[in-house]
Amino acid sequence: MSCPGCYDPHKDNTITKEFISKSPQETLDFGTSIGKALKGGEIILLNGDLGSGKTLLAKGIARGLGIDPAYTVVSPSFTLMNIYKARLDIIHVDLYRLDSDDVYELGLEDFMDREHIIIVEWAQRSKDFFQGDVIEISIEYLGEQARRIYLGTDIF
Ligand SMILES: Nc1ncnc2c1ncn2[C@@H]1O[C@H](COP(=O)(O)OP(=O)(O)OP(=O)(O)O)[C@@H](O)[C@H]1O
Ligand SMILES: [Mg+2]
Repeated sequence: MSCPGCYDPHKDNTITKEFISKSPQETLDFGTSIGKALKGGEIILLNGDLGSGKTLLAKGIARGLGIDPAYTVVSPSFTLMNIYKARLDIIHVDLYRLDSDDVYELGLEDFMDREHIIIVEWAQRSKDFFQGDVIEISIEYLGEQARRIYLGTDIF
């Protein structure tokens, strides 16, 4: 079925604001395209319910940034912060278990520069903390394998 203007994960084409993912692989591939497009200094806020695919999208973004194959992207919900080496180093955090003020204790300011990408799951918890080159992405559950991924920021 054709979908004019829709993102095609099998082609290296532009990233559309809205993408309907039909499988985990498509979400991973969409994330990879985003990762390839990043220039440094972006803060990516991922919002969406439990199990919507935030960590999977983060994994794709890390792939697109050429993550060192020795690293595996996993949920940082227990470690609070995972750091991966890549074309631009990636700081991956999950605010799910934190109170909204705890974000100030993480020291994220140290990574807010052109050499880093910050990816935040459950970012809505402390939305006001994140300033600058912010890219908001929301993922909505549509069905067992289907998700709507929406880019709230027009930067690509
Ligand atoms: N189209 C899809 N895109 C993303 N994930 C999908 C899709 N279809 C099914 N899934 C499944 O949904 C789950 C998403 O898990 P993931 O850990 O990425 O979610 P999350 O949003 O990070 O959850 P949490 O809020 O617990 O951190 C995976 O098991 C994945 O296989
Ligand atoms: Mg997660």
